[in-house]
Amino acid sequence: MAESTKTATLSFEGKTVDLPIRTPTAGPDVVDISKLYAQGGVFTHDPGYTSTSSCESKITFIDGDKGELLHRGYPIDQLAQKSHYLEVCYLLLYGDLPTAAELEDFESRVTNHTMVHEQMHNFFRGFRRDAHPMATLVGVVGAMSAFYHDSTDISDPWQREVASIRMIAKVPTIAAMAYKYSIGQPFVYPRNDIDYAANFLRMCFAVPAEDYEVDPIMARAMDRIFTLHADHEQNASTSTVRLASSSGANPFACIAAGIACLWGPAHGGANQACLEMLREIGTPDRIPEFIARAKDKDDPFRLMGFGHRVYKNFDPRAKVMKQSADEVLDLMGIHDNPTLQVAKELERIALEDEYFVDKKLYPNVDFYSGIILDAMGFPTSMFTPIFAVSRTVGWVSQWKEMISDPAMKIGRPRQLYTGHTRRDYVDVENR
Ligand code: SDX
Repeated sequence: MAESTKTATLSFEGKTVDLPIRTPTAGPDVVDISKLYAQGGVFTHDPGYTSTSSCESKITFIDGDKGELLHRGYPIDQLAQKSHYLEVCYLLLYGDLPTAAELEDFESRVTNHTMVHEQMHNFFRGFRRDAHPMATLVGVVGAMSAFYHDSTDISDPWQREVASIRMIAKVPTIAAMAYKYSIGQPFVYPRNDIDYAANFLRMCFAVPAEDYEVDPIMARAMDRIFTLHADHEQNASTSTVRLASSSGANPFACIAAGIACLWGPAHGGANQACLEMLREIGTPDRIPEFIARAKDKDDPFRLMGFGHRVYKNFDPRAKVMKQSADEVLDLMGIHDNPTLQVAKELERIALEDEYFVDKKLYPNVDFYSGIILDAMGFPTSMFTPIFAVSRTVGWVSQWKEMISDPAMKIGRPRQLYTGHTRRDYVDVENR
């Protein structure tokens, strides 16, 4: 991309600093402040990174005003309708849609890495049965670095590739094992003769006592949920993975850090919190009570599944998820699902309320996903692990992009210090 000749001039206290402006292929211009401290002796301050670009990337772009999400330029609604998760994984990882031969090779490589080292089973025995599956997932994915030493040297492009495939292939197996362990059922091994989404459903719901046939409607819905959650620019968990990886830490530990960050209810934990909120509301007549709480400055309650740092319009993923919820529940013969009715009425009322309109708060990806997952038979505790399974490819793709950049340096933010200036120690008898 041609370097821009545009500059922004910052003048203060008799100093003037010219800062280069970089023009992206999409989105707002970026003022490059990397030389600001050296030339002007000041920092910038942006605690939530609301106006700060942390990196250059070619993977995903979000137009928050239009409500558009592009993966390598392809709109998410087209990918959700026409593609499937492993093809989207290839697109995110390698930059273009694969040929038929490339896709077959990629799917074969992932399929043949879905089993985990048999000794990893022992890790689960150390957790309480009632541990949240996210706690187990964080622990066991981090432990992958204790088993797969031959793909932890990030300076070796081949080891980076092997680690990428291993994580995309094994995280669903580990997530399914975390679920099985939490309900006291035996682990179910992956199979090589069914596709990625069907494999995950089978590892979660099959039992040795009988045959299990994956419902193709459920498999398609599962695949679509995976596709919708795959990547999303520099969200909190992806930024966590990038920062952890910038120190040169091994990829398994860095993805475990991303899983930990995703768990929060303001981020990936919102899908669980949202369904629990919809169940607490229970019936449409109680919606005004919860809307009032969401608007009350003195009440920490927030409408889960609503609002977004970037989207100031409908999250395009929520639109597809809402359509899928109608389709899946209808195809599964679940009519008049009370939780779905509450969700739709809550959306309607909120989007007419000036508080939500003024603040541009719309349903996000987490608002409808839980309704589908609940109908498929998952407990709410498995909602965020499923988000983590899907987002692994996004974390890995962003990790690969950063690690393979020769200009990469360790991330080390500065601060606005407002604590004590230097003072001398006082002996305890003089305090
Ligand atoms: C995900 O970043 C990503 O891309 C994340 C994600 C991905 O794919 O990786 O999209 C996945 O995390 C989706 C978001 C899931 N979280 C939730 O649904 C939790 C509920 N939402 C909020 O906590 C909130 O909307 C955030 C965290 C999502 C965004 O918060 P911001 O950008 O920091 O916005 P803010 O907190 O500054 O809110 C702006 C205003 C505030 O009011 P004022 O202080 O200006 O008066 O809007 C209000 C907020 O109080 N507000 C809400 C609200 N969300 C924001 N009020 C009520 N209910 C809400 N849900």
